[in-house]
Amino acid sequence: MGKEISCLKSYILSAMLAEAISYGLQRKSAIGKQKLSERCFTSFLGFDGIKRSIRKARNGGYTMIIIRNGRVIDPKSQTDAIMNMAVDQGKIIAMGPDTEELLRTSPAAGTKSDDIIVLDAEGLVVAPGLIDVHVHFRDPGLTYKEDIHTGAHAAAKGGFTTVVCMANTRPPADNPETLDYIRSEGSKTGIHVLPAAAITVGMNGETLTDMALLKQHGACGFTDDGLPLRDAALVKRAMDEAVRLNVPLSFHEEDPAFIETSGVNQGEVSRQMGIGGASALAEDVMVARDCMLALHTGATIDIQHISSGNSVKMIRLAKQMGADIMAEVTPHHFSLDETAVLKHGTLAKMNPPLRTELDREEILRGLQENVIDIIATDHAPHSVEEKERPLTEAPSGIIGLETSLALAITNLVHPGYLSLMQVIEKMTVNPARLYRLDKGYLAAGADADLVIFDPGELWTVTEFASKASNSPFIGDRLIGKVKYTICGGGIVYQDV
Ligand code: NCD
Ligand code: ZN
Repeated sequence: MGKEISCLKSYILSAMLAEAISYGLQRKSAIGKQKLSERCFTSFLGFDGIKRSIRKARNGGYTMIIIRNGRVIDPKSQTDAIMNMAVDQGKIIAMGPDTEELLRTSPAAGTKSDDIIVLDAEGLVVAPGLIDVHVHFRDPGLTYKEDIHTGAHAAAKGGFTTVVCMANTRPPADNPETLDYIRSEGSKTGIHVLPAAAITVGMNGETLTDMALLKQHGACGFTDDGLPLRDAALVKRAMDEAVRLNVPLSFHEEDPAFIETSGVNQGEVSRQMGIGGASALAEDVMVARDCMLALHTGATIDIQHISSGNSVKMIRLAKQMGADIMAEVTPHHFSLDETAVLKHGTLAKMNPPLRTELDREEILRGLQENVIDIIATDHAPHSVEEKERPLTEAPSGIIGLETSLALAITNLVHPGYLSLMQVIEKMTVNPARLYRLDKGYLAAGADADLVIFDPGELWTVTEFASKASNSPFIGDRLIGKVKYTICGGGIVYQDV
């Protein structure tokens, strides 16, 4: 990879040579289709081709992509091996140690695509495109924070090819028109943008939405995320309907009865700051309630952004009892504890809040034991002005799409809590299972949604593709960098 880039740089720097080479390239691109082994040449072809591929992906066109010598990690088949992969017409068409041989014998041999890009993935990991089941793209209504297009760019930069948008837009996604709008804008981004719909009308916590109608309009699941549901009987009715419709529900678990000041844990830090804080009890009581409701109704539920050690223990028990529960943790909840608020102020304020080191340890145990199945970002963009307000007045939430994979590698894989395979499992096939998506795995015939990343590259968090920059990780040195994101067979992000 390094070789390719230095190759590329000297190519760009030398203006005169560039002309000559580009003439040569035009002539050689035909040869390139047959001969895929000249590294430097193919990298030049790739540079040109990648730009075409991005254009084509946006216009619904295709380029054939050969990914050479990558470390292919696929949790579904438990594959971890160096191999090549060929992608065409939006699908993986061949995978194996000898792609040229596979291509000759593949039914897709004789591709109709007019370009071939060869990506040298030596030293890089090739994995299923990441899936984030918890993002806030703020569109419609709050697009000064983020919109579907900037959100999708941030996702692609973070290696994500599928995201599930939460319903707390303005208006909320409680009606067919808003869902149609999100899907229509999402379809222009190059990645898969799926809307979740609200459980209650206006997210008022009182009246159930017409879930069947909203499912017809593309709702992949239902949630009032941001606002906890206080009415247990209503939650039960929503679960009964979700069973009938075969859709998941996801829950933000914080009982307002036990929140004095949102976004900061009630404990040592809130005392030091002289504010009330949000007690872990707020989460624990609601997790307990919804675990039991799920057990009794048989609904598939997702407990969102777990912050408390007790919730990990309760979900473990409820799963053992047979409840169909999946649980999410955010990168910030496994990376930081409540003391981050002292250092980062409003940039470490989120719901539920960062809690104690003991809670974090329990979360790590939950991840190891698969009590926590999913890593989800809760990408929650807010403007600079909003986050500059005093701690008690600023909105809760931080962005996460562009740092998620690297935080998982840095804070879970590097210290030895999880293997890379386990991290990828919690960011691909498990989230796909929750939302019943035929995604999140690698195989001939599967959708060509891929992330290619350098698992060892050190980088510093400085700038974002997101409209927002409300992250406590700015300035941090992280390990693991996304190099390419491929969605539906097109390159939607490339690190240059
Ligand atoms: C989220 C937001 O800003 O929409 N905020 C947050 O602190 N997490 C809502 C949410 O996911 O709870
Ligand atoms: Zn939430």
